Amino acid sequence: MNFPEYRPRRLRRNENFRRMIRETALSVDHLIYPLFVVPGQKTKKPIDSMPGVFQLSVDHVVREAGRARDLGIPALLLFGIPEEKDEIASGAMAEGGIIQRAVREIKAKVPDILVVTDVCLCEYTSHGHCGMIEKGEVDNDMTLEVLAETAVSHAKAGADMVAPSAMMDGQIAALREGLDEAGFEAIPIMAYAAKYASSFYGPFREAAESAPAFGDRRAYQMDPANSDEAIREITLDVAEGADIIMVKPAMPYLDIIRRAKEEFDLPLAAYQVSGEFAMIKAAAQMGWLDGEKAMFESLTAIRRAGADMIITYFAADVAKALGK
Ligand code: PBG
Repeated sequence: MNFPEYRPRRLRRNENFRRMIRETALSVDHLIYPLFVVPGQKTKKPIDSMPGVFQLSVDHVVREAGRARDLGIPALLLFGIPEEKDEIASGAMAEGGIIQRAVREIKAKVPDILVVTDVCLCEYTSHGHCGMIEKGEVDNDMTLEVLAETAVSHAKAGADMVAPSAMMDGQIAALREGLDEAGFEAIPIMAYAAKYASSFYGPFREAAESAPAFGDRRAYQMDPANSDEAIREITLDVAEGADIIMVKPAMPYLDIIRRAKEEFDLPLAAYQVSGEFAMIKAAAQMGWLDGEKAMFESLTAIRRAGADMIITYFAADVAKALGK
C-alpha cells in the first residue's frame, strides 16, 4: 500500500465513492433531545446563551414533543425548573412537581416518544448543589435516598427511563433498588457514569437556573485530567445495574468515549453539552464557521469515537436536515 500504487484520493473523487466507503453513520435513531420545563402556561422563554433553545411551559413541551416525534426522534430528556427551590429539594420528588406533570402530559398526548428524565437535585435546591448539604458539604448517602425517591416519582408519572446525573457514589444501586421495590423493574437506568466537572456546562446553568450558590462541583464530578478514573466510575455503574452508560461532555472527551466503547459492552451514550452547542452557534452567528456543517461534523465525530446515541440540543435541527 504505497504511493503511487495506492492513491487514497481515488475513492474520494465523487460523492458516490465517498458514500460507499463512509465508516460512520449518523441518523435520527441516535438522537436524544433535551428540553427544559418551567412552571406556568404559554411560556416559551429564549435562553440567551443557547440560541434556538427555550424554557418551555408544559403545554409548549407537549407541543415540542409532538414535533420531535413527527421528526422521528426516539427520545426526549427532560430537565425541570421548579416553582420554588428549598434546602431539601422537595420539588424534585413531588407528585405535582414540574417534571412529574410534564411526563404525565407528554405520555397522555404523545405516547410514542420515549420520555427520559434527568434525576438530580441541583435544579431543586436553593443552594444549587446536586445533593443534600450537611456541614457545608454535599452528603453522599443522604442524597442517595432523595435521588431514589425522585426516580420513583418520575417512574410513577410514566417516565420510560431515568438518567441520574448527580455523581453520587452508589446512585445507580440506590435507584435500581428503589425502582424495583416500587414495582418498576422494567424501567432502565441511563447512568451519567463518567461526568466531568466541566466549564462547558455554563449555558445549561442559565437554562436550568442551577449554578451552585457557593463552591463548585469538583467534589463530586470528575477531574477533566483523568481517564483511568472514568473506567473505574463506569465499572461501578455497570456493577450497580446501569442499562446505558454515558460520557459527558462529548467532544472534549472523545478519548473517554473511545475507551468506554472498547472496554464495556453496554450501550454507550455521549452528551454534547450546552457549551459545545453554544460554541458552534456563537461562531456560526459571527460568520466564523458554517453552523450546519459544524453541527454534523461534531456529531459524526462523537459517533465515530464510539457513541451509540447522542444527547444533543441539535436533535431537532439534525432530524430536520436529515429528513430533507
Ligand atoms: C446536573 C446536570 C448538568 C447538566 C446535565 N445535568 C449540569 C451540571 O452538572 O452542572 C449539563 C448539561 C449541559 O451542559 O448541557 N443536573
